[in-house]
Amino acid sequence: MNESATSAVQDTVLETRNVERSFKLLRNEIRVLRGVDFAVRRGEVVAVMGASGAGKSTLLHIIGGLDRPTGGTVLINGQDLFRMSAARRTEFRAERVGYVFQAYHLLPELDVVENVLLPVMRRVNWVSRAARYRERAMELLRQVGLEERAHHRPMELSGGEQQRVALARALMNEPELVLADEPTGNLDSQTGDLILQHLFGLTRDQGHTLVLVTHNEAVAERCDRTVHMVDGRLAD
Ligand SMILES: Nc1ncnc2c1ncn2[C@@H]1O[C@H](COP(=O)(O)OP(=O)(O)OP(=O)(O)O)[C@@H](O)[C@H]1O
Ligand SMILES: [Mg+2]
Repeated sequence: MNESATSAVQDTVLETRNVERSFKLLRNEIRVLRGVDFAVRRGEVVAVMGASGAGKSTLLHIIGGLDRPTGGTVLINGQDLFRMSAARRTEFRAERVGYVFQAYHLLPELDVVENVLLPVMRRVNWVSRAARYRERAMELLRQVGLEERAHHRPMELSGGEQQRVALARALMNEPELVLADEPTGNLDSQTGDLILQHLFGLTRDQGHTLVLVTHNEAVAERCDRTVHMVDGRLAD
């Protein structure tokens, strides 16, 4: 391999090769992903669009290691995600990927800053580094304008505020890859714009890699490029 080919590979954070996912329902098999080839370079911000039911969330779950493909390969930094042991995949998911979903999935019994700290709480050195982690969590909350709400419970926050907490949580680990599945889907357009501003501010401006599922053309235009899911495959 020549030098530029090597660096192109190193620059690829994520690559799917011929990924398939079908679901069996009674005697029917639904083929949702029919050979998805998708490569994302480090620092890239990519929008995924496509009709409802096209398989966008299914793809995102597979990329994030939350679901298994029925065929094909997913490489993260050149490592085959589904050849890892389940334990390593869990660790990978927790340490390297940040998720933002349409629903916020905050834990109601924890306060805001504890929710942001969740991704690091499983670390063995968590206690010895607690003060440093807390500082980072508070800094992220400051960046999304919620420093003052650190000790509130999620229930006491509006939807947009809860999504900002979820954003801060997704970035807590400085993840290699941020996956966002219609993060503004449950919000009015003004609140949604604010979330996107924070999402782009926290990821793009800091060189994180982001894959963002959206139905909104204007949002897609703010990304580096857009791929469209059509008939279980991706097209530019
Ligand atoms: N666990 C499952 N069992 C059976 N079918 C499923 C399962 N998960 C997803 N599907 C089917 O796969 C197809 C794609 O679903 P997916 O959620 O990926 O679509 P989507 O592109 O994210 O749609 P939307 O834009 O509405 O969120 C749908 O037809 C859905 O019914
Ligand atoms: Mg979806």
